[in-house]
Amino acid sequence: MNLFSHFRPIGLFCILILFMACKDKPNGKPGMEESLVPSLKNTFSYDFFIGAAINGGAINGSDTLALDLIRREFNSITPENIMKWEHIHPFPDKFNFEMPDKYVRLGQKNNMHIVGHTLVWHSQLAEWVAQVNDSASMAGLLTEHITKIVGRYKGKIDSWDVVNEALNEDGSLRESIFKEVLGDHYLELAFRTAAKADPEAQLVYNDYNLTHPEKREGAIRLVKNLQENGVKIDAIGMQGHWNLERPTLEEIETSILAYHKAGVKVLITELDITVLPNPWELEGAEVSQNFEGNKFMNPYPESLPDSVQNQLAERYADIFSLFAKHRDKIDRVTFWGINDGASWLNGWPIKGRTNYPLLFDRNYRPKKAYESIMKLKK
Ligand code: GLA
Repeated sequence: MNLFSHFRPIGLFCILILFMACKDKPNGKPGMEESLVPSLKNTFSYDFFIGAAINGGAINGSDTLALDLIRREFNSITPENIMKWEHIHPFPDKFNFEMPDKYVRLGQKNNMHIVGHTLVWHSQLAEWVAQVNDSASMAGLLTEHITKIVGRYKGKIDSWDVVNEALNEDGSLRESIFKEVLGDHYLELAFRTAAKADPEAQLVYNDYNLTHPEKREGAIRLVKNLQENGVKIDAIGMQGHWNLERPTLEEIETSILAYHKAGVKVLITELDITVLPNPWELEGAEVSQNFEGNKFMNPYPESLPDSVQNQLAERYADIFSLFAKHRDKIDRVTFWGINDGASWLNGWPIKGRTNYPLLFDRNYRPKKAYESIMKLKK
């Protein structure tokens, strides 16, 4: 046996280690040094992107704790508000690209899957759009809005929520200024224009309650309609604003399978799990009221009791095992926010409550729910 043959296995081992270190993960992300750090993104790197919606504080760097978590735990970002029409296109001739540019740079610098949210939505729309009342002008406006924004970030933004929340609960198309002026085919126009502006970007229809049978059927009709007209649509975004019991795992699974069967990828785009009572179950509840001092509607103003903390952890673990089971159908799971303190669910559907819907607490520390998800892969 010569010296070379003796060292050959060691050499091969070193080459293998080097190869693994340099090789991109399936999600196209970290090398070995980074992938050794336990984090959500590393734990699920062979399953799907793990994303978070981020706000202005994280984008401009003032919320350094959030920024640290984003870099450590997530490999995808979504802008919580800055790309919504009222912010990015507040007047006919004015586009605000300063924050969106910063947002995209942040994602690029950290080698992330970058999401654009959202191009066409009836809500958080600039007021002036409501004055456009002939179809030629509205078609021109939608085309300009989409072409300019998608075109600016061509090759940089990987996935676009092209149309947001266009469906009613019964699966029919919701009334909106776009539907009123352009008719149902505004969806087709939006998707066609986005595809033209960046043929490589993933194009998404995004909505809530997409696990409800009638709305699910509506979403599938919407997908089929686009496909039959030769329009590109790549994925359905199930927002995932859920609670401790609903939707059931069965409802979620049936929906994932149904969208997959319709020929599109599934994304979970806005995941958070409320632990507070739902005001709509209270007859006559006025959702704009302040419930800060109300023990029934705001039961955990100081901290979350262990029993509910455990329930939340279990719910997240169940949901994530289901997602992992369908990793071939799911491209991305994005949380709507980083930590409990900044969640929109403290102020919606009623103001002044203390909610605990995410994986990190008000001090940016991982909660039991975080551990329960991480444990799934041990
Ligand atoms: C919807 C929108 C998001 C966000 C959430 C709540 O789901 O798609 O942009 O506004 O509501 O904050």
